[in-house]
Amino acid sequence: MNPERHITRRNFLSEALASWVFITFVPLLYALIRFIIPPNIREKIMEVINAGKYTDIPFNSAKILRFNKKAIILVRTEQDQVKAYSAVCTHLGCIVEFKPDQRLFKCNCHGSEFDLTGKNIAGPAPSPLKPYRVELKEDNVLVSQA
Ligand code: FES
Repeated sequence: MNPERHITRRNFLSEALASWVFITFVPLLYALIRFIIPPNIREKIMEVINAGKYTDIPFNSAKILRFNKKAIILVRTEQDQVKAYSAVCTHLGCIVEFKPDQRLFKCNCHGSEFDLTGKNIAGPAPSPLKPYRVELKEDNVLVSQA
């Protein structure tokens, strides 16, 4: 310590105030900067998703899955085939649903219908549903881009 340095009340209060300002505002400034500049988080792009056990999917049923932020519909037909298509209607983007009694996919927004090959068969949808590749591996259903 410098022996010639004399600590006055004024010096002490100034340094205490500066310390308090530093301790209070630096974390606030850090939080504000972190809020304004979010962390660079990239969502992992999946090449393949595991859609679950093959035996857990009943015949003539379907389920909606997420694949890289996109909805896909996985269906197991009565003929024991497993198929996957984009669940996004090619008309205006609503999500289609499977109609087991009619054995087709139907969009309830404007009535488009797609058969079990994904082909548009009724309604205003201009094109078929996009197909996905389905593989069975040890009772697991793996879905990937076609
Ligand atoms: S969005 Fe599907 S029929 Fe219009």
